[in-house]
Amino acid sequence: MTTNKLDSVRLGESGPSVSRIGLGAMGMSGMYGESDEATSIATIHAALDSGANLIDTGDFYGAGHNELLIRRALAQAPREDVLLSVKYGALRGPDGSFGGVDTRPAATRNFLTYSLQRLGVEYIDIYRPARLDPNVPIEETIGGLAELVKAGYIRHIGLSEVGADTLRRAAAVHPIADLQIEYSLISRGIEAEILPTARELGIGITAYGVLSRGLLSDSLRGATQFAAGDFRAHSPRFQGENLTANLRLVDALAQIAATHEVSVAQLAIAWVLSRGQDIVPVIGARRPERWTEAVGALSIQLSPQELAAIEEAVPADRIAGERYAAAQMAMLDSER
Ligand SMILES: NC(=O)c1ccc[n+]([C@@H]2O[C@H](COP(=O)([O-])OP(=O)(O)OC[C@H]3O[C@@H](n4cnc5c(N)ncnc54)[C@H](OP(=O)(O)O)[C@@H]3O)[C@@H](O)[C@H]2O)c1
Repeated sequence: MTTNKLDSVRLGESGPSVSRIGLGAMGMSGMYGESDEATSIATIHAALDSGANLIDTGDFYGAGHNELLIRRALAQAPREDVLLSVKYGALRGPDGSFGGVDTRPAATRNFLTYSLQRLGVEYIDIYRPARLDPNVPIEETIGGLAELVKAGYIRHIGLSEVGADTLRRAAAVHPIADLQIEYSLISRGIEAEILPTARELGIGITAYGVLSRGLLSDSLRGATQFAAGDFRAHSPRFQGENLTANLRLVDALAQIAATHEVSVAQLAIAWVLSRGQDIVPVIGARRPERWTEAVGALSIQLSPQELAAIEEAVPADRIAGERYAAAQMAMLDSER
């Protein structure tokens, strides 16, 4: 293995030192259509070889499939070379359905026990509820997680898709390393309140959907529909006229990318990187060459004028459609 060091940053005031970009493994368990095991494992190896250490997963990605895949990929990697970020709490049925969340302390302990087993590790670096549980006060959930930190089973506590009030309440119980939340050129909702609150509290951001699930790249140009099991088949931004309108924005971004001789995805990642050292993009590469492409974004320097031109080409308020379907939007504390 060749080891090129990516720059590292501290994730929030209390979090670990992480590579400037991380790898999100969700798409390796079928969320965006078929995935191939050997290619997925090669992608994880490509990320580690490039010097990345942050790998994000969820126990519900492929109902355990994603964690088992990561275990196989990491079989030869020294444990301390990898930071595992794991989301839990989503309830699933054998038919693939989702049925709410459960983050009571007893459920949290139970989820963690199975994740440790599937991942084949003795601790998880950052453990986070995937969504706010409407039936459990956040103080109780964080209290349960704090016990697991004390016992050595998890190193840091993170959150996912919660709003500013929840961040404050959680941080009053235990230090929070990071908030994982969607953030991209076309999903800028966090800028008004959530990001300033995270900064005030010393909480880092791990940004997902930086490529808006492939929209801000060359992957989907010309796409018109998606297979039934693909997340995008049910996501408002990827339907009919919305998709057509959104791909027009991508065309505008592509023109700017061409002048920089970079790809659309690289420009989209570079824009997020430009928003602050406390924001770590977690990129959903599924193939080694996609990871290499993402790493290329770290070399792009954008002047204030160039950033303004990008934001003008892709105004956030011109995006057609919400980032999730209505039922999923209703589960987002970050959207209240
Ligand atoms: N906390 C949460 O609620 C939450 C929600 C969703 C995701 N996440 C995490 O965030 C990670 C990233 O999010 P994401 O997978 O939705 O989004 P993403 O990074 O915005 O999009 C990934 C898609 O972009 C395409 N793409 C085009 N160029 C690429 C490049 N250079 N590098 C990587 N991908 C490229 C890929 O399609 P092709 O493979 O077809 O090229 C891939 O399917 C997930 O894996 C997951 O770990 C968290």
